Amino acid sequence: MSSTAPIGVFDSGLGGLSVVRQIRHGLPHERILYYGDSANAPYGTRPPEEVRSLALGVARRLVDQGAKAMVVACNTATSVAIDHLRDVFDIPIIGMEPALKVACDQGHGSSQKVIVAATPLTLRESKFAALMKRFSRTNIILRQPCPDLVRIVEEGQLDDHELVDTTLHQYFDAYNLDTVDSVVLGCTHFVFFRNDFRRLLPRTTAIIDGNKGTAHHLSVVLESLGLMAPENQRGGTQVSNSNPSPALKRLSQDLLERPL
Ligand code: DGL
Repeated sequence: MSSTAPIGVFDSGLGGLSVVRQIRHGLPHERILYYGDSANAPYGTRPPEEVRSLALGVARRLVDQGAKAMVVACNTATSVAIDHLRDVFDIPIIGMEPALKVACDQGHGSSQKVIVAATPLTLRESKFAALMKRFSRTNIILRQPCPDLVRIVEEGQLDDHELVDTTLHQYFDAYNLDTVDSVVLGCTHFVFFRNDFRRLLPRTTAIIDGNKGTAHHLSVVLESLGLMAPENQRGGTQVSNSNPSPALKRLSQDLLERPL
């Protein structure tokens, strides 16, 4: 495999573009092939077998296009399909999981109260149960599914602040937020709501996502395999989507560029 080959990145839809932004920032010489499966989004409310089969189809497409490595920029697809994808494809595959470790480590040994916001499927799957088990002995971990946030991104309603705030209040008003140390954004779509979460949460509550860690992990893997793009390569991103509408194309471009 050549180091000049592209990196495949995919998500159920547009959320993974938040990961692409981070990869572009850290690895500016890489060429990225992004595939959003918006025609089948959301994944987070589908049965696991269905998500596994959709993820397999998308991954195959990226491998057929010559990807040297792949990032599953979707916590939901990772939780049900990553092992299968690694069995089937012979390239490095990097998955994502809610950054619970980062949140708990912030306590430096003292107990943390953490809300994990993710899709219903991610929070139901055994991968997340195993992660919870690792950290819930010494920390308080609360699970909050937020499926409507995915829909808001996919429908281009991020700037409808009234809708966003009502939706966030509907999910988080039941908590005593002053006692929460951090909120983990365990779905790549949710990263686009960082400023909205900031307005909702007390200043003392940290907002944590896994995008930086994923981009870093990718760079370590590429480096160790000699697959890092040469410095004279011009990086870039090619975005494709299973929903071919021009409106979605414009929305993808906006999500790649909007200030976060
Ligand atoms: N962006 C996805 C994730 O990180 C899933 C959103 C969905 O399709 O439900 O989990």
